[in-house]
Amino acid sequence: MEIINNPTHDQIKKAAKALKDGHLVAFPTETVYGLGADATNEKAVSRIYSVKCRPTDHPLIVHISSISQLDKWAIDIPEYAIKLAREFWPGPLTLILKRKNLAKDFITGGQENIGLRIPAHPVALALLFEFEKFGGEGVAAPSANRFGAVSPTTRFAVQEDIGSYLNPKDLILDGGACTIGIESTIIDCTSSDPTILRPGVVTLAMIKKLIKIKICTDSSLNTIKTSGLVSSHYSPRARVILNMLSEPGEGFIAMARIPTPKGSIRLSSPNNIEEFAQKMYEALRDGDRKNLSTIKVILPEGVGLVDAIKDRMNKSSSKGEH
Ligand code: TXA
Ligand code: MG
Repeated sequence: MEIINNPTHDQIKKAAKALKDGHLVAFPTETVYGLGADATNEKAVSRIYSVKCRPTDHPLIVHISSISQLDKWAIDIPEYAIKLAREFWPGPLTLILKRKNLAKDFITGGQENIGLRIPAHPVALALLFEFEKFGGEGVAAPSANRFGAVSPTTRFAVQEDIGSYLNPKDLILDGGACTIGIESTIIDCTSSDPTILRPGVVTLAMIKKLIKIKICTDSSLNTIKTSGLVSSHYSPRARVILNMLSEPGEGFIAMARIPTPKGSIRLSSPNNIEEFAQKMYEALRDGDRKNLSTIKVILPEGVGLVDAIKDRMNKSSSKGEH
């Protein structure tokens, strides 16, 4: 696999061509790095599943470059979904809509719905535009990590996790550290009753300003399969324990104003909530790089983005033996 640092326009063009030729391209988005494939190419998409070691019934988000492409992939798009798209795209929001024929079972995991998003990162957007110029319809991209691991927010994390499973003609585009650092907010728009399936930086309060919305509180009631709802997701190798001070030799993640307990290893000292979200996955990975067996995390207080941080950290800490 080839790694391209700060890709030029020509290099992004080359990456778009690689996608069109059926290769995989890992690329930065504003949320986390994605592992991209041509969403209409079954063989290429099947490689995403094998590289990630992801069960094939977990659907993929298709990334598009403009709202006008929604109609290619989705039908019966409710008015409120268009409102959300207009307000938050390009940006960290994924809409689940009723699928059209272009969205095959190998993308949707056999469901009648399709996840769509326009990412805001300039490299991602340029890649999508160039891909369309080659006749591409959309880029399927889950987070570029092995199934169950925390999402990568740097190209080093991508390389560490999946580098050895990529082929010589696959590419990794390095666009620096992701600015948001946690995955997009996901909203189910398949009924008249929109529901937040995964919290993110587009918060409940921001959405409520536009439309009526509820949060999915009981994942067992939700018939849509969302792998982020599996409880042992977003886990480092280390055991993660929430809201307890660390002992000597343990990792510690907390806001900067909370001092490091004596003898423990500070993994992150964010000054605000946004920085907490942006750095938390890399901090967990750092704990693994340092071979720590336990990481203690003091969660920040509040709502909004804090809800998304809590959602991911609860999942990191609830893993069983694996
Ligand atoms: O920020 C993000 O959303 C990143 C970047 C790369 O765009 N992508 C991402 O993809 O987090 P992934 O596959 O790691 O997580 C997407 C979640 C999964 O839990 C998947 O099951 C769910 O979205 N999902 C995708 N398509 C869906 C669909 N049609 N119905 C229900 N859930 C869906
Ligand atoms: Mg993921």
